[in-house]
Amino acid sequence: MCGIVGYIGDGNVYDILIKGLHRLEYRGYDSAGIALCAPDGSLNIYKSCGKVSNLEQHCKGKKLDAKVGIAHTRWATHGEPTDNNAHPHYSEDGNIALVHNGTIENYKVLKDALIEHGCTFHSETDTEVLVELIEYIRLKNNCSLVDAVRQALNEVVGAYAIAVIEKSNPDQIIAARKSSPLVIGIGKDEFFLASDATPFVEYTQNVVYLKDEEIAVIKKGEPLKLLNLENEEADVNITELQMSISQLEKGGFPHFMLKEIFEQPDTLRDCIRGRVIDGGKRVCLTGVLDNKEKFLNAKRIVIVACGTSWHAALLGKYLLQDMARIPVEVEYASEFRYSNPVLDDRDIVIAISQSGETADTLAAIQIAKEMGAFVYGISNVVGSSIPRETHSGTYIHVGPEIGVASTKAFTGQVMVLTLLAIAVGRLRGNLSEEEEERLGGYISRIPELVEDVLKLNDKIKHLSLIYTYARNFLYLGRGYSYPVALEGALKLKEISYIHAEGYPAAEMKHGPIALIDAEMPSVIIAPNDHLYEKIVNNVQQVKARQGSVIAIVTRGDTEIANIADHVLDIPEVPECLTPIITSVPLQLLSYYIAINKGKNVDMPRNLAKSVTVE
Ligand code: G6P
Repeated sequence: MCGIVGYIGDGNVYDILIKGLHRLEYRGYDSAGIALCAPDGSLNIYKSCGKVSNLEQHCKGKKLDAKVGIAHTRWATHGEPTDNNAHPHYSEDGNIALVHNGTIENYKVLKDALIEHGCTFHSETDTEVLVELIEYIRLKNNCSLVDAVRQALNEVVGAYAIAVIEKSNPDQIIAARKSSPLVIGIGKDEFFLASDATPFVEYTQNVVYLKDEEIAVIKKGEPLKLLNLENEEADVNITELQMSISQLEKGGFPHFMLKEIFEQPDTLRDCIRGRVIDGGKRVCLTGVLDNKEKFLNAKRIVIVACGTSWHAALLGKYLLQDMARIPVEVEYASEFRYSNPVLDDRDIVIAISQSGETADTLAAIQIAKEMGAFVYGISNVVGSSIPRETHSGTYIHVGPEIGVASTKAFTGQVMVLTLLAIAVGRLRGNLSEEEEERLGGYISRIPELVEDVLKLNDKIKHLSLIYTYARNFLYLGRGYSYPVALEGALKLKEISYIHAEGYPAAEMKHGPIALIDAEMPSVIIAPNDHLYEKIVNNVQQVKARQGSVIAIVTRGDTEIANIADHVLDIPEVPECLTPIITSVPLQLLSYYIAINKGKNVDMPRNLAKSVTVE
């Protein structure tokens, strides 16, 4: 949801910023822009609609030498994605330039007041209001840029991660954050800042994650200084990154999405490492061990999440109810926050988020904490806001996910939820030692079983050609396969723009069955579980209406294989582990259909990977 990057040092400012923008493009790609303070004292700003590559074209032949610079890739909120609305925004006098990720909620009030003071505006963005406010305060109070930023932020309501540079003082960047992420990289005589650490991972491993309402004064040749909004100095806590450059490259794959699908045997191995122990006999989750009392006394679990993470959450309900026998509710974080939730200190709220930055999920966490619930986070990005805001939690450890459509993060989330359900089930005495050992054995083998499923790649690629021009798809599943159906449909929608609906298979007869005809393919997830015979009936119902069926079945299946048009077979696993296995062929199917249609799978239109606005 907008990416910002900044650099001050002796390196090539333009190159570092453009490369950084490419890495952050997953956060938004409606427009991009760059502001550079040149050694001759000029401030040069270039912007362009569309992707970062358009900005690069636009910058050809322009004055690009610089001592310091900031840049932005946008996911539009206020104002259409035009050149004019692109960041950086600059004050009318041309002295300061600013990039912003977030939303200034009271921008209208501030704008009206500034207009009364004689300011004129050239864009429809909330960001231009902030830049004008800072410059207005700086001139009126004859103060430094950092003072003006601090005073302006005291008047602002909303979310922001900002970076500001000043023509008349080009040796510094002032940055600040509230509810939108910002991380500073500390190199040798150079500083980087960005929405996440990916733009500078090859330059430094030393980072400072800015806290909410902290302002950073970044000056070349001086130690980093942090202030709060009351102008008090804050401690600078430097941490070491756990990321390598190879994780950010495509590694020979044409797209990040395909790379991430194929990485799943490794990412699942990383996810379970140290958590399934004693040769696969025991499950050990530190987050549960450290909070035994909370999990023992819990009367209910509420899981909050958005998007794909919400589908993992729904699987969490099946897993936790089956194994831990605790009632579980699953809520969209965006609805939960406005649903007047009823919670107390015997409730556990689990927040699931790949990025750890989703604004709605963060807001839900805040409410849960205020009401006394114990909040447990399941995130991927180390050091992101959700792990910092929750009482405890578990990282999924699947490495940076760049493709906008989530794949390896989903299977990682489901794996962590499975481990959590087993650990809590054992703790509460609802799961036997034998069952833990049986499941632990299968979980240890999951990476190789996913490797096996990936061998379906060529078959799915071929199959995708038959269905590329379908206009609608139905995805059906029951029990553990129902959330998988929802996720399969979402993957297809997101990257191929084909309308797809996920449905509990038995609900089909209450509505969607009316849609079925020869033009409407159904993807039916039908592993060999306790609902198998029931889903055979659903396959028959679709076939009886001339619908074509692609079925995901357990290897050796003959019943559905005889009636479905196409079958994709998966290895046999216990029912609770089927989602990790069955979701993989659906990821590949959506990938190839989108590729056949010529779509940009890594950057689907209108979407962003990290949604830091409401
Ligand atoms: C966006 C992304 C989705 C993601 C959702 C929740 O919509 O495009 O892929 O599932 O946000 O993100 P989170 O980081 O909280 O899992």
